[in-house]
Amino acid sequence: MNDRLSRIEIDRDQQPPLIDAYGRHISYLRMSVTDRCNLRCFYCKSDDVRFLPKAEILSLEELDRVASAFVRLGVRKLRITGGEPLVRPGIEQLIERLGRHVAVGALNELTLTTNGTQLARHAAALAAAGVRRVNVSLDSLDRWNFERITLRDELPLVLAGIRAARAAGLAVRINTVAMAGINDHEFDELVRWCGDQGCDMAYIEVMPLGNSMEHYVPLDAVRGELSKHWTLIPIAYKTGGPARYWQVMETGRRVAFIAPMSHGFCTTCNRLRLTCTGSLVLCLGHGSNVDLRAALRAGDDADLEAAIRSAVVAKPAGHSFAAGIRPAEVRPMWQLGG
Ligand code: 5AD
Ligand code: SF4
Repeated sequence: MNDRLSRIEIDRDQQPPLIDAYGRHISYLRMSVTDRCNLRCFYCKSDDVRFLPKAEILSLEELDRVASAFVRLGVRKLRITGGEPLVRPGIEQLIERLGRHVAVGALNELTLTTNGTQLARHAAALAAAGVRRVNVSLDSLDRWNFERITLRDELPLVLAGIRAARAAGLAVRINTVAMAGINDHEFDELVRWCGDQGCDMAYIEVMPLGNSMEHYVPLDAVRGELSKHWTLIPIAYKTGGPARYWQVMETGRRVAFIAPMSHGFCTTCNRLRLTCTGSLVLCLGHGSNVDLRAALRAGDDADLEAAIRSAVVAKPAGHSFAAGIRPAEVRPMWQLGG
């Protein structure tokens, strides 16, 4: 065992956990590894989006260092996000390095959120690195509608990616943003298809991250519609995030609802986001970011851990989406990191 690993083992027993000013225990980090994405989902990106210069993006080594610092401070679930994480050069090496925390039991889960287009060529390496589950964002099973939403004709690639992930032994949860007038006619088909593929699924409410809310639909309404055709039984199953799960009796799979707008879950929020430039996003609905890149580039790991600890104290109580936040305070998902 090398020095870093043994340090994690020791620190796990000695370090006080990361707790914010509201007593919430921070155990979940979502780390963006790139702002780039090969899709242009209309609610996330516009076609003239400008990507950041390379010098501002954390190197693979820096990403490993900062993630490992969070693990030492008690993070037990790490989700790799983007942009699209699998377009980052060297992503397999990074995930393989991070997998060592799973191997020694310091991390309970190493996972990622992907648009699925690059999964076919990475699925086996992800599984080998210790990834057990991935979330694949998929809003439509109809090729024309998929292209209307993402501005790219890549549905066949995504479907091939999902098949490859299943074949590599990865559990797949399909994440679908529920949008009235865009994909609501496909909700039943998505539940059936996920059942056939052996995938769980999650519906997500549209959030105001700089996009229009014209297609917003509360998920209670979606669940009500689904209940007309499926027998849904609420279950206690948890994946460490805000998703609330129901069992679909006819398919034997689960369907989750992630409803930040209609059912806030801020009081139990256990997560932080790190952008690919090293900015710690304390809350999706606030501009309250803390730059960790300076500490990462200037200091040693002890300084970095101190910077993380003092940042966490400032985590806001919750988002104010319902109260109508100022658009300047929030950023689209491709910049926030899923
Ligand atoms: N509201 C809700 N979900 C969003 N996503 C991206 N932007 C938004 C938004 N404004 C979703 C993506 C993907 C996940 C990372 O976040 O579709 O499933
Ligand atoms: Fe890419 Fe995800 Fe944004 Fe779609 S929602 S453009 S897949 S980062």
